[in-house]
Formats: sequence, structure tokens, C-alpha cells
Amino acid sequence: MCGIFAYLNYLTPKSRLEVLDLLVTGLKRLEYRGYDSTGVAIDSPDNKNIVMVKRTGKVKVLEEAIQEHFSAGDYSEPVMTHIGIAHTRWATHGVPCERNSHPHRSDDGNGFVVVHNGIITNYNDVKTFLAKRGYEFESDTDTEVFAKLVHHLWKTHPTYSFRELVEQAILQVEGAFAIAVKSKHFPGECVASRRSSPLLVGIKTKTRLATDHIPILYGKADDKKLGPDQDSDSGKPQVLPRSESTSEFMPLEEKEVEYFFASDASAVIEHTNRVIYLEDDDVAAVRDGTLSIHRLKKSLDDPHAREITTLKMEIQQIMKGNYDYFMQKEIFEQPDSVVNTMRGRVRFDGNAIVLGGIKEYIPEIKRCRRLMLIGCGTSYHSAVATRQLLEELTELPVMVELASDFLDRNTPIFRDDVCFFISQSGETADTLMALRYCKQRGALIVGITNTVGSSICRESHCGVHINAGPEIGVASTKAYTSQFISLVMFALVMSEDRLSLQQRRLEILQALSKLADQIRAVLKLDSKVQELAKDLYQHKSLLIMGRGYNFATCLEGALKVKELTYMHSEGIMAGELKHGPLALVDDSMPVLMIVLRDPVYVKCMNALQQVTSRKGCPIIICEEGDEETQAFSSRHLEIPRTVDCLQGILTVIPMQLLSYHIAVLRGCDVDCPRNLAKSVTVE
Ligand code: M6R
Repeated sequence: MCGIFAYLNYLTPKSRLEVLDLLVTGLKRLEYRGYDSTGVAIDSPDNKNIVMVKRTGKVKVLEEAIQEHFSAGDYSEPVMTHIGIAHTRWATHGVPCERNSHPHRSDDGNGFVVVHNGIITNYNDVKTFLAKRGYEFESDTDTEVFAKLVHHLWKTHPTYSFRELVEQAILQVEGAFAIAVKSKHFPGECVASRRSSPLLVGIKTKTRLATDHIPILYGKADDKKLGPDQDSDSGKPQVLPRSESTSEFMPLEEKEVEYFFASDASAVIEHTNRVIYLEDDDVAAVRDGTLSIHRLKKSLDDPHAREITTLKMEIQQIMKGNYDYFMQKEIFEQPDSVVNTMRGRVRFDGNAIVLGGIKEYIPEIKRCRRLMLIGCGTSYHSAVATRQLLEELTELPVMVELASDFLDRNTPIFRDDVCFFISQSGETADTLMALRYCKQRGALIVGITNTVGSSICRESHCGVHINAGPEIGVASTKAYTSQFISLVMFALVMSEDRLSLQQRRLEILQALSKLADQIRAVLKLDSKVQELAKDLYQHKSLLIMGRGYNFATCLEGALKVKELTYMHSEGIMAGELKHGPLALVDDSMPVLMIVLRDPVYVKCMNALQQVTSRKGCPIIICEEGDEETQAFSSRHLEIPRTVDCLQGILTVIPMQLLSYHIAVLRGCDVDCPRNLAKSVTVE
């Protein structure tokens, strides 16, 4: 979902063309988040204006437009200090078009330009307020009101600093946002802020930074709101509270420094590994090369400073390498990513598991009333996949919830509930809202995320980082298998002292130790899966059937097929066949069935017979050497035998490969499926 990238060089000479190059590369790193239009803003060669280029479609289109647009004029002359801002937009207010693309401007003279992620929910009120003061709007977006509001404040409060203007504007807006603002009235300065939408600041200096912390400076503003009721036409200027920052600390001052403002770390890692994750309502401002972080109001639990974190990520992790698509790379990374999830946590020699992030909380979790697993999409499916094992090993009631539905129902939550929030990005709005809902009601919050520093990470009481490495493809693959394993590890921790469960735990631990090699074996089916994809890609639909531990694979497989190939697909609980779905089956309906040698094998065979006796000719995922099952179809994929509760990891991989190959054959955009975003930061 929308991406922000801004670059400020202070006393580090760069030509505007170099700046543009950096901005475009930054946007390319954010492409995976999903978007439909793009834009950049830099200073004109005479420094008197701001030049913007915007395009609908891919960053590549913007790159070509930039090459065309900036061929004239002296954009190759180095400038000592400059700020450029860039954006990928995922349409929420107004269709994707150049007019609605960011940056948005305050006025014809481009006094202030803004890039924004999220939604300003009270934008209509602010728009009405500004319209009455003569502002005309040129886009359908909520963002434009922010640019114009800053301009209005600048007009009415000419002595305010850039940072103060943005702070005052932020006081007036509601909703979720991350913003970065550039102004021709404040050259070389940048102000950025966030509320419920991620934003970080990357810092690059020639020498090692003298500090690991940026102190927070506080203002004295109160929350006076603009709005129709205050929109008096008395002609008196609106008096807004002014923030007067007081500081006992020095902000970050460096002689030569470059700053990067970005929606996520993948856009800055090739420049620096030193970042500050901004918190809600932080206002980060750079002036004369000095970064300071302000908050308007001080609350009791506020820390004194924001920490500068060192990213562990490597640049190679966010590059495609020899693969055609990120999704393909991420599918093939799974033998390693599952090991990384277990690394330092599972001791196969001593059959012991330690989850450092929740260790202290295990006694409290053991005393809880019930476990709730909450997520969206693929993350929700990882909860479905592990629910049965969690019920077995924790002996607690386990509820599995889609975050959006959970909120719609105002689900009752109690202080002795333990709520798990599962999210690859850690920023999914529905999941985050559900987290806050449960936290307010006193439940213990456990985050299961892949993104260090994400909102869900920070707002949880404790958690497990799944360590799958950056996942760039919009379709989630390796995060699913790592979430799955994280929840299995949790179940094993919870049953550590249960004598009656030791044999079962041992069986699972042994199976975990073999998993990486077994995944490698499944990945060898790739060319066979590609052949099956050739049979399927021109069809309109694919039914995926299974039950027990493999029902989650059916749901996840169908989601992968839908989002990547735009074909209809449905995950069907095989036990439900006779209750409706069997009517769909005939000799032309593509069906895939998962039939493994586990406690529900006989029931699955029953379903297989029901399908074949209606002339269905299913593709079967079965165990290696299972001739009895294979006899039912000439098309089958054999996977290695593992313990029942881990089968889902091996059965989902052929589904990931199948959806990938069908998408390629249908000419779909594998890494960025239409209408979707990697990180869904709006409800
Ligand atoms: O980042 P999250 O895990 O919270 O994202 C949840 C879903 O949006 C996500 O899993 C989505 O369903 C994927 N595109 C599926 O491949």
C-alpha cells in the first residue's frame, strides 16, 4: 500500500539527476507494497520552484518520464543541500490518474508539496474550512487538503518554522497517515510524521554516529481543532496554539549527512543500516542538516529518546538474484527460511525449545482462559493450520478469527484471554485495530510478525519474530511456513512439562529436524507442477479439497490461485462435499485433492471416490509411494511423509508453485497482482 521515499543530502554534493536516480530506486524497492501511480518532486535548477513529475502505472513509466522531462535545464550541476520526495500511490480517494498522484501541492506556486500514506478521515471538514478561505482543489484526494492546510497556516502564522506549521496541521487531521513535506519557502528542510502508518528515518554519515539516541523534544500545544463550528466568517484570523519546543538535549547534528525517509527498511538498506522507527505523532524535522524529533504532548510513559537501530537486513535479501520473480525466489528460499525460524530456538539434541520473546509470559499464558489467533489472509490461514495442534498440546480452547470479522462482531474479550496477532508486515490495519481492541480490554497481546519495528511488534506485550527474511512478493509464501512453524514451536513450549505428551512432542521435533530437506524434495516437483499448470491455466476455476491438517492448505492454495491468476478458486473442506460443493463436480471441472496417510485418510479416500464417481479427474497430492491413492488418477504429486501436524507445510508448496506457474502462463504480474497491496494499512 502507498510508499513514501524522501532523500535529503546536507553538505554532500549531489546533482538533481543523482537525486532523481535515488528517488526512483527508492520507489522501486517499495513497489512490492502495491500501487497504481507514482510521482517525485525536486527543486528546479534556479532553486526558485519545485518541479514535480507524476505518472499513472509503474515506476518504470515514471523513470522514462523523468528522463524525458529533465533532459533540458541544468539538472546535472551538484547541489550541496537538497530534499527530494517521492511516492507510490495505492488509490483510496479518487481513481488512479496523474491528477490524483502524489506529491500534492498547496498552491499554483508549489509552496508546499506533500506525499502521504493512509487516510485523513476528516478531510471533508478541513476541505470545507479551506474552501471558504478561497482554496481550490485539483484532485479527489484527502492528501491535498493537508498541503493546503499547511499553506493556510503559513499565511496566517508567518513566523512559524516549517516544523511548527506541519505540527499544527497534524493537530487538525484525524485518521491514519504517514507524511513527508517539502517546501520552497524552507529550502533544504524536510518534515515528516506518522500516525498508525509506518515511517522510518535512515541516517548516513561518513563517520560513525556519536550517539545511538535522538532525544525527543516536547511542545506545549493543546488540541484545538479547526472545523465547521470554528469556521467563523468573522474575518478574525484563526488563532492556533503554538508548540514551543523545549530541549535539555541536543538533537542529532552532523556536518555531512544524508537522511532517508521511507515507509520501510527495504528502501534504505542499500544506503544505510542505521534507522529510527518513528512512533505515532512523532514529528521528525531536518533543518541545517540537524535531525530533531518532536512530540506535541508529553505522556507519562514516553521515553526520552528514539533509538537508532542497526538493521540486520542484507541488500541481497531484497534483490531477485537469478530468479524471475520475488515470489519464485521466496518459494525456493523456504528450506532456509524455516531453519531461520527455528534457529537458536529449537535444540534438536536436547529436545528443548526456547522462545526468548515470550519466555517470561509462559506461566501467565498457561493460566489463561483461551487462546485467540487473529489475522488476515495468509496469516489467518497459518492460524487455521495450527489450531488443531495448539488444542492438542495446550489443552486450551483455541479460537481462530479473521481480524475484520472479529472487529465487526465486537467479540467479547476478557483479561484472562491471550490474543495472538499474526501478521507478516506487522502493519495490517484490521489486525492492528483488533490488537488495540483486545489490549484495551486487558488481554495479553502476543505478536507473531516478520517485520522488526512494525506497529504490531511494538504494540504487543511479547512476541515471536518469525525471521523469514524480507518478503517482497505481494503473495505471501515463506512467511506462511514460518508463521506455521512459530505456532508449532509455541505449542511445543506449552507442552514441555506434560508427561503424557512427550512422545508426541518428540515425534514433532524429529519431523521438524527433517523439514528443510523435505521441502527441498517438494521443490524438485517444480517442473511437474509447471506441466500441470499448462493443463489448468485456461480454465475458469479450480476446486481444492482436503480436510483435517490439510484444510488450511486448501484455503491458502485457493487464495494464492485467486490473487495471482485472477481465476476463481475455492478451498473446500472435503467433509462438506455432500452438503453442496459436489454439485460442481463433473468431467470438466478442475479439482485438486490432498489425500495423505493420516487419521482422516479413510474419509479423504471417501471424498476422492465421490469425486471420481462423478467423472471428476482430480490432481492428487499424496505421499511418496502411495500406489493405492495414486490409482485414482493419472495426475499426482508425491510428497515425503512427515508427522500429520506438519504436512501442511509440505502440501502448501505445490500450491504455491502451481499458482505461480498458472500466473506466468496467464501473463499476470506475479509480484504485484492487480488491485492488491503487500501491506494493507487501511481498513
Ligand atoms: O502482513 P499481513 O500478514 O498482516 O497481511 C495479511 C494479508 O493481507 C496477506 O496475508 C494477504 O492475504 C496476502 N497477499 C496473501 O498472499
